[in-house]
Amino acid sequence: MTTETKKFNERLGGHLTELLECAGISGKLATPRLLYGLTAEFPCVAVVGLGESAEQTVDDAENVHQGRENVRHAVASGVTALRDVQCSHVTVEPTEHAEASAEGAHLALWSYDELKAEADRQRPVQLSCAGGDSELWRRGALKASGQNLARTLMEAPANYLTPTLFSLSRRPCLRCRWEVVVRDEAWIRQRGMGAFLSVSRGSAEPPRFLELSYSGAGAGAAPLAVVGKGVTFDSGGISLKPAKNMDTMRADMGGAACTVGVLYAAAQLGLAANLRAFIPLCENMPGSRATKPGDVVTAMNGKTVQVDNTDAEGRLILADALCYAQECRPRAMLNMATLTGAISVALGSAAVGVFTNSTAAWHQLRAAGTNTGDRVWRMPLWKHYTKSMKECRLADLNNIGSATGGGACTAAAFLQEFVAEDLPWLHVDIAGTMENTTDVPYLSKGMSGRPTRTVLEFAEAICQQGSR
Ligand code: BES
Ligand code: MG
Ligand code: ZN
Repeated sequence: MTTETKKFNERLGGHLTELLECAGISGKLATPRLLYGLTAEFPCVAVVGLGESAEQTVDDAENVHQGRENVRHAVASGVTALRDVQCSHVTVEPTEHAEASAEGAHLALWSYDELKAEADRQRPVQLSCAGGDSELWRRGALKASGQNLARTLMEAPANYLTPTLFSLSRRPCLRCRWEVVVRDEAWIRQRGMGAFLSVSRGSAEPPRFLELSYSGAGAGAAPLAVVGKGVTFDSGGISLKPAKNMDTMRADMGGAACTVGVLYAAAQLGLAANLRAFIPLCENMPGSRATKPGDVVTAMNGKTVQVDNTDAEGRLILADALCYAQECRPRAMLNMATLTGAISVALGSAAVGVFTNSTAAWHQLRAAGTNTGDRVWRMPLWKHYTKSMKECRLADLNNIGSATGGGACTAAAFLQEFVAEDLPWLHVDIAGTMENTTDVPYLSKGMSGRPTRTVLEFAEAICQQGSR
């Protein structure tokens, strides 16, 4: 029994234990039972088991802190059960992991229904923590709100969130202590971002390059650069995608959305970190000016790329964004991108794929993923794959590999061509975790906002070290 449950039991004259026994309520994980009329203060109480491993710490084989993960799951099932019976205020137990409890509660209640009739929307629920909102509870709530912001941006229809609207939507966040700069097409051209521009050419919507910066660690400390793929709709371009599920390509700005989520949560938490975000935004469309298979474009660092498949567009816009991001002299650089269907073949939705030139940075990201339950898995960044990208008839690089297979790895090898060798860099392929069906029990169905919380923890950890 957790501390708050014990207190509650005392207030009921010790009858709660009996009651649970009578009702046959066990500690089984996340099966809520609703009890009515116990006290005037709490007319409806959801009792949820934390499972056998509530006190368990890290499960090495599973790379997850099982105790925390169980709390997220259990709390999520409790608050959704209460919402479903029309409760508008829910007081949640902090349990032994108050941060995870707040995460589970806030993540579970997210829904995107603002474009539906009032009657069809989920009712709002006010959450508070039993015994008062502690610092840990607040931290969990803010981390979840960063992820929820990413989910909302990802789920939004592409006609409601064009590159221009995405860039403008970041401005009004006055409570966020961040600076916002929106670059237009002329600036992008002037900076020589030919790879990025080649993707936006097929669309009537102009591209934007969004920069956010949050300084929580004083002017002297080198920042962490976070780069996010912001393709607000990916039709595939001239190499058009099949119609089935093409609508989900509104979330091809998931990297951008998670990047914004990380900075938002960092700013709200007042994290002692300097973060710089670089977000190329465009549509990939097959208009009459669109890039054609076989066209050659020049990236910001002067490398030429033969575009044999216009659907491999993410790496093109990231190539220029990575080049530019390095100008801020970061201590490390991390990019997130819904880059390849192949990463989902490799890992499914269990974890995002991480390609990195730094084992130290990898260990930090892995530890963060174990804590948050939003896991990461390391993938190879070998010359084998680079070779496949360099076999090219007309240019320095081709945008698709010459060999079949290893699609996520060849994409990563392509990106590596635009990053300085001595800069700790991590490429995070988030295509496999873009959407949640029922895999993560505390996330409702829809775009997932993964791995916002993991990258936030990573940012905190890496910025605690001295400057490189
Ligand atoms: N945005 C897609 C990748 C994607 C696929 C994200 C499924 C989320 C779910 C990316 O731009 C793409 O089209 N990649 C191609 C690359 C290929 C042409 C080399 C792919 O994965 O098929
Ligand atoms: Mg594509
Ligand atoms: Zn894409």
